[in-house]
Amino acid sequence: MEIGIDKIGFYTPHFYVDMEKLAHARDTDPGKYLVGIGQEKMAVAPTTQDSVTMAANAALEILDDEDKQAVDMVLFGTETGVDHSKSGAVWVHHLAGIQPRARAVELKQACYGATAAIQLAMGHIALNPESKVLVLGSDIAKYGLRSGGEPTQGAGAVALLISANPRILALDKEQALLTEDIMDFWRPIHSDKAFVDGKFSNESYIKFFTTVWNEYKEKTGRTLDDMAAICFHLPYTKMGRKAFRAIIDEASEEVQESLKERYEESIAYNKVVGNIYTGSLYLSLLSLLEQGEELTEGARIGLFSYGSGAVGEFFSGTLKAGYQQYMLGEKHQEMLDNRKELSIEEYEDIFEQSLPTDGSAIELEVEEDPAPVVLAGVRDEIREYINK
Ligand code: COA
Repeated sequence: MEIGIDKIGFYTPHFYVDMEKLAHARDTDPGKYLVGIGQEKMAVAPTTQDSVTMAANAALEILDDEDKQAVDMVLFGTETGVDHSKSGAVWVHHLAGIQPRARAVELKQACYGATAAIQLAMGHIALNPESKVLVLGSDIAKYGLRSGGEPTQGAGAVALLISANPRILALDKEQALLTEDIMDFWRPIHSDKAFVDGKFSNESYIKFFTTVWNEYKEKTGRTLDDMAAICFHLPYTKMGRKAFRAIIDEASEEVQESLKERYEESIAYNKVVGNIYTGSLYLSLLSLLEQGEELTEGARIGLFSYGSGAVGEFFSGTLKAGYQQYMLGEKHQEMLDNRKELSIEEYEDIFEQSLPTDGSAIELEVEEDPAPVVLAGVRDEIREYINK
């Protein structure tokens, strides 16, 4: 039985910052952000969007009534959850109208959470072939104004429907994994901004990638020539490029050329959204499938997931015939094109806004947010979510 990705939804907030303007405001050569880091625009979340609302908006894009009855597990990968106890999965389960006899839980391991969720979903469906699992990856990446990580922020969510007989990508059963206790990126419970040892995180990413890639090759007997494309977790688009460079010579010249072209296609959305942590790898897959040239049935796509701290995994899948019918490229392009550009002052102002932490109530301006699901306010320490 084949198990894999049946549908993919995506949501990003309606604000962005232009990276060239951010570079000027930070007295930095724009070439560093545009080429050195590889980012053109950065999504900014208003206070009416958090990891729960973004995930719900991505989920609502793909779920039909039949899916809402068939989903019996909601797995929410995030590292910017909104509650230490209640999982975002329960809110999304409600906001998306999924039938009640379901399991709902949040998973955390930096940017790796949604990949762990997919692998757990695969096992669940192997035992329960009729079921469908909703996997969410949703985050707001915040390093701080004028911090080294500032140009690698972003916000957004990806929703994946995992099922038997998938219509987009059938996932291979083999994976290669690595876990090591390192401090390359972390966010203490008290802080809403991440801490990062930037250079070390880059080195660790590449070390994890080459390690799991080599192990995947050994396990499967496949080589780079067997890959139509490789999608990477993309904290910024130069990161995947650097990792790819470490292995690209393994392919024949012809395959190298085509893998490089596919890489450019796979960063189209990430370049204008920024880092969305748990969803980044799947946003890259979405870019490839929606913005790239049509790939043939059975084309194999490699996927590298990395969550600082750190866990790395390389896995793969093969494309299903007619996958393009199920992609929502036009809708996603429209969502990106309709965003409003913020001035640097507006961005800094939004960045500093936060919800009260002293128990007082707040009502938020939801009319200006075009998303269906928004955070309307907080009362008695309870977040009030609405689906407009
Ligand atoms: N034109 C073109 N490229 C330029 C440039 C210019 N004017 N100025 C600098 N660059 C290049 C640098 O050569 C460097 O390229 P390289 O990475 O290929 O060596 C790149 O831009 C970044 O410059 P650097 O000086 O290393 O930037 P930095 O010290 O500000 O750090 C990050 C960059 C990504 C480490 C930092 O933004 C960060 O910590 N981000 C968050 C952590 C992260 O995303 N980690 C990834 C693993 S999960």
